[in-house]
Amino acid sequence: IKKIILDTDPGIDDVMAIMFAEAHPEVELRAITTIFGNVTIDTATHNALYLKEKYQLKADVVKGADKPLVRPPVGPSVVVHGESGFGDVEVPNEVEAVADPRSAHQYIIDAVKAEPNEITLVAIGPLTNLALALQAEPEIVNLVKEVVIMGGAFGVNDHRGNVTPYAEANIHDDPHAADIVFSASWPVVIIGLDVTEQSFFTGDYLEQLRDDAGELGQFIWDVSRFYLKFYRDKVGLDACHVHDPSAIAYVIKPDLFTLREGPVRVVTEGPAEGMTVQKFDGRKYLHDDWENHTPQRVGVAVKDAELLKLYRQCI
Ligand code: BDR
Ligand code: CA
Repeated sequence: IKKIILDTDPGIDDVMAIMFAEAHPEVELRAITTIFGNVTIDTATHNALYLKEKYQLKADVVKGADKPLVRPPVGPSVVVHGESGFGDVEVPNEVEAVADPRSAHQYIIDAVKAEPNEITLVAIGPLTNLALALQAEPEIVNLVKEVVIMGGAFGVNDHRGNVTPYAEANIHDDPHAADIVFSASWPVVIIGLDVTEQSFFTGDYLEQLRDDAGELGQFIWDVSRFYLKFYRDKVGLDACHVHDPSAIAYVIKPDLFTLREGPVRVVTEGPAEGMTVQKFDGRKYLHDDWENHTPQRVGVAVKDAELLKLYRQCI
């Protein structure tokens, strides 16, 4: 059993990922920590509480940071995820489930101290909560089993960005936090656009899920209407990329992915703000402080057909 804390900004593909983690028998979804990003922190937390209630999730819901560490907030991505965060699906104003009183970063610190080397942190939104946890308690680098992140783009197959030519949304929303998380001496696996843009949920795939997977299949279909329309109108695709669920797929079945090792940094300012870069050539350069950074692993290839099959079977 893999115990995970899922840090998320729900978000359409976040819902797809949360329910994937919840449904898989080898994953124990301990907590959903929320973060601003696709929606505001209040909407993110409300949406997580709504899911907790709707699907009777055992996971605690914990509210996280409302803004990036340093850069000015970018603001919610209404065009991609809709006003509610769930596309055209309206979320009721009142939910009965309540959030844990702690802040997300304190919850993470407490959880990993209580169970050293048992918990995997999976982050599918901006990395502010993880950076705050590292700043408040640097010792957690030795207590977390693994950190799995959906974010970034490393130029493999020319994948470089989705919100600017050189930045992916989660990293662009808080580049300073991402640089702290990637530079820390804990084991990080980064599932970026290089792999998430290699897998596609087509209209037909989602339709089959709707027809075969009961109420959950219908819900995933309902939230995906708006997302698919965004992809059709703005990206020119008759499908959507499989971003956040790919991070969960890695947790369940790591060998779906080919990883490349080397230190990772983030550009925190200027026109390439939010760009992720990895040094993997082993060469010694004249001015090079990269060697002082922990080698992390970056996804460079994915068995997409197997991933889609795993998701379908699980849901
Ligand atoms: C990431 O940004 C968000 O829009 C998605 O939820 C995903 O986490 C993809 O770039
Ligand atoms: Ca997300």
